Amino acid sequence: MSRRRMLRMAGAAALALAAQIHAASAAWPEKSVTLVVPFAAGGPTDIIARIVGEHMARTLGQSVVIENVAGAGGTTGITRASQAKPDGYTIMMGHMGTHGAAPALYPNLKYNPAKDFTPIGLAAGTPILIVAKKAFPADDLKGFIAYLKANGDKVSEAHAGVGSVSHTTCTLLQSQLGSKTARVAYRGTGPALNDLVAGQVDFGCDQIVNLVPQIQGGNIKALAIATPERSPALPNVPTTKEAGLPEYQVSAWNAVFAPKDTPKEAVDKLVGALDKALDDEGTRKRLLDLGSVIPDKTGRTPAALQKLVESEVARWMPVLKDAAAAAQGQPTK
Ligand code: MLT
Repeated sequence: MSRRRMLRMAGAAALALAAQIHAASAAWPEKSVTLVVPFAAGGPTDIIARIVGEHMARTLGQSVVIENVAGAGGTTGITRASQAKPDGYTIMMGHMGTHGAAPALYPNLKYNPAKDFTPIGLAAGTPILIVAKKAFPADDLKGFIAYLKANGDKVSEAHAGVGSVSHTTCTLLQSQLGSKTARVAYRGTGPALNDLVAGQVDFGCDQIVNLVPQIQGGNIKALAIATPERSPALPNVPTTKEAGLPEYQVSAWNAVFAPKDTPKEAVDKLVGALDKALDDEGTRKRLLDLGSVIPDKTGRTPAALQKLVESEVARWMPVLKDAAAAAQGQPTK
């Protein structure tokens, strides 16, 4: 075959391949997208996923189906989602626990938060509150701390599993107070909140988006919010600084990830759909009314999320290692 003819055939093949790739990218998504939420329905991660997922579906032109896969502080669901086919049709809502605290608490974690994912973008920052059941025998943070120190493991704390945000942020609180309580694990802080409202468990550290309706309804006590300023969604809840525990400052975040090696055309469309959701007035109102902090444009990029994950893993490792050592009575650095 002449050289000219071979070059012509190679060129034609390359064009055909390019056309195929272009057609595939133009077509993506051709079916619904599964958004894995690694906790039980009704909790903060689920709430945020459903709010942003609803608008992402409009932009993508396909439904976004929430799949709740709970267990092991969120690491079960994230492990499963991280191993899904990297075609853009399985994404996940991770957070400060699954993609920040987990490596410090799970020596055999089956994923590396900084290496095994394609970051899509931050969805919502979520300030943390210390909340107690309505009948808790203290009405302010000072009284709560005094009761906790006097009653130790007679006091029950609700969390969503080792490595979850609720578990991590209450571990931080307990290490600062030098207190120890009975720790009760749930498949998410949605179910945990049900027991708090029912008075079946004494207190917890949880993300604001889960708590606003129950606090506004007077069904649980909000002792303090662990941010420098009060939340516009809960203007009557004092900050930890105002309430006498300035050192307890902590906020969580929830973010969308895809498996590693997800194709660029899918990633670009997912990034664009999340960005549009966070610009949409109705979506913003739903998130803000629940006390979320919506990231600005620079805070939403995949690169910003990758940096956040790397810094959060580095931040929580020493904090949680020290807390575990202190809890076992070992010397900390
Ligand atoms: C949830 O959605 O249940 C929470 O994010 C769990 C947690 O991390 O505390």
